[in-house]
Amino acid sequence: MIMLTNKTKKTKSIHYLKGACLCLLAFVFSINFVFAQADTTKTAGQASGGAGGADLEVGKRLWEGNCTSCHAATAEVVVGPGLKGILERRTIEWLIPWVKNSQAVIKSGDKYAVELFTKYNKAVMTSFNFKDEEIKAIFAYVDQESKKVPVKVETTTGGSTGTQTSSASDSSGYFNLMLGILVMVLILIFAVLLVMLSMVSKFLKQKEDLTTEDREVVNQKFDVLAVFQNSAVLGGVALLFMLFVLKTTLDGVTNIGVQQGYAPTQPIAFSHKLHAGQYEIDCGYCHTGVYKGKSATIPSANICMNCHNSIKRGSPEIQKIYKAIENNKPIEWVRIHNLPDLAYFNHAQHTNVAGLACEKCHGEIKEMEVVQQRAPLTMGWCINCHRQTVVEHAKDNKYYDRLIEAHDKYQKGSPMTVENIGGLECAKCHY
Ligand code: HEC
Ligand code: HEC
Ligand code: HEC
Ligand code: HEC
Ligand code: HEC
Ligand code: HEC
Repeated sequence: MIMLTNKTKKTKSIHYLKGACLCLLAFVFSINFVFAQADTTKTAGQASGGAGGADLEVGKRLWEGNCTSCHAATAEVVVGPGLKGILERRTIEWLIPWVKNSQAVIKSGDKYAVELFTKYNKAVMTSFNFKDEEIKAIFAYVDQESKKVPVKVETTTGGSTGTQTSSASDSSGYFNLMLGILVMVLILIFAVLLVMLSMVSKFLKQKEDLTTEDREVVNQKFDVLAVFQNSAVLGGVALLFMLFVLKTTLDGVTNIGVQQGYAPTQPIAFSHKLHAGQYEIDCGYCHTGVYKGKSATIPSANICMNCHNSIKRGSPEIQKIYKAIENNKPIEWVRIHNLPDLAYFNHAQHTNVAGLACEKCHGEIKEMEVVQQRAPLTMGWCINCHRQTVVEHAKDNKYYDRLIEAHDKYQKGSPMTVENIGGLECAKCHY
């Protein structure tokens, strides 16, 4: 009698062992997941919080808005050199005048600057009218960024050229790293469990006092299918799958339609810095619709020919303009700013009526070698400006004068914003 219960206990204990192992498996998995999460939040927190957090935020914003089209925080060369270890290479006293006006530093005969300039084929770095503190903040951020664990992440959404905000890819990088470690740990545990299991069953097989019933259980072949029928394993797999789906959708959703920083390579290396900046050609000379129509329009090759039938004829880039005209094919400029069809935006309303400068929405175009989308172009962005911007232009316009008069009468003290003239009404922006 006593013997019998003992034996059933033994066979039962095998079952318990199996069950316990599976539970352990699930437990380790969840612990790892929590760690992975904690790690991502930690790095995110470090970037925004802590001492000098505000500076890093400023640095990050300026860096991403102005520098990432030409520089990476790694050693990788984009247009200019990778800025990894820049603070070891150069002093901040050298860097500040450099960022403000690199050409001036080069012209002053600074040996390092001249060599660098020659090495980069005399590519001219944009000048930035930043405060010293802002430049310090940029390098503080770059320094921090370059010291992070180098995790390569390919961002495939949006087709943007690697200028996606790096914080998103950082946390995504950590997630992938943790997921990789997790899988390895799981494989290891699985192997250990198999060894344990075979040891236990070997031990039981050597026992002679087993009933045939028990022997059957012990001799049972390890059944792969049975593992997948186990609810703990199924739960684990389902959890893993759900996490994967969650991650892909989150990545996708945060990038839908938002193309901030998008700066595609154009078919002809046309430079706004040269044309609109150095030669001060008016924006409206090329973007003929911008003061009078909905669309700014992109100039046709004929407009280029006004000058380039005599200027720089020999340049291979200019030859491309001739080729387009010869073949009667438009130059295939890649569109950068693009609102979805459901939204209505009118340039004349903003440039002409409201008197807003292009820079308000497009950034320092006059400094860009390659045009980059600076504004997010989301609904929130439009609305924010409409809430904050005071309508004061078009003062001589009778219609506006009367509007402002009426507004002042009823809302003394608070200036009339675009919101007050209906700038938040859905139908103004949506047909
Ligand atoms: C239009 C492209 C472009 C942009 C935008 C740009 N740079 Fe540069 N940068 C260059 C090039 C090219 C060089 C190499 C020197 C040269 O050719 O003038 C360079 C060199 C540098 C160097 C010296 C690197 C070294 O290895 O010593 C620093 C520092 C630097 N840039 C910082 C910045 C910062 C900060 C920003 C943003 C505020 C910025 N750059 C924006 C193109 C650019
Ligand atoms: C000599 C002609 C010329 C002048 C002057 C000019 N542009 Fe452009 N602009 C172009 C061409 C060509 C493109 C398309 C290629 C590109 O994106 O670089 C373009 C593209 C743009 C784009 C991006 C369009 C898109 O696809 O979303 C913006 C924004 C822009 N220009 C603004 C300006 C502003 C602001 C000025 C004045 C400071 C200006 N441009 C002056 C020729 C010109
Ligand atoms: C109002 C006159 C004017 C117009 C219009 C104009 N350009 Fe230019 N472009 C210039 C000048 C000036 C230069 C500088 C030439 C130099 O460096 O000697 C230049 C230089 C260039 C260069 C650099 C060539 C090289 O190899 O250095 C390119 C590319 C270019 N333009 C493309 C265009 C395109 C494309 C258009 C039409 C969208 C256009 N330009 C319209 C005046 C103009
Ligand atoms: C109030 C913000 C705002 C201002 C100010 C503004 N733009 Fe735009 N711009 C936009 C938006 C939004 C788009 C995208 C429009 C779309 O997709 O329908 C755009 C698109 C463009 C394009 C791409 C082609 C097109 O017509 O859609 C060009 C070129 C352009 N802007 C040039 C200019 C120039 C030049 C100025 C200054 C004279 C200017 N913009 C002022 C917001 C602005
Ligand atoms: C930089 C500030 C700014 C941004 C950004 C901006 N707007 Fe405006 N918008 C104005 C101002 C100022 C007016 C008032 C023009 C006037 O005096 O009638 C205006 C007027 C309008 C009007 C006419 C409203 C009315 O009651 O007549 C529409 C429509 C409009 N904006 C659409 C948009 C859309 C769509 C976007 C985003 C893609 C946008 N705006 C982004 C400043 C802005
Ligand atoms: C000042 C202009 C403006 C006003 C006012 C405005 N919208 Fe929008 N709305 C936009 C723009 C621009 C987009 C496209 C933004 C994008 O693609 O991220 C948009 C997108 C949307 C979308 C699609 C969202 C998506 O993610 O595709 C909806 C829905 C919407 N608006 C509803 C409304 C409603 C409802 C109101 C009134 C309470 C309103 N909008 C007022 C400019 C405006």
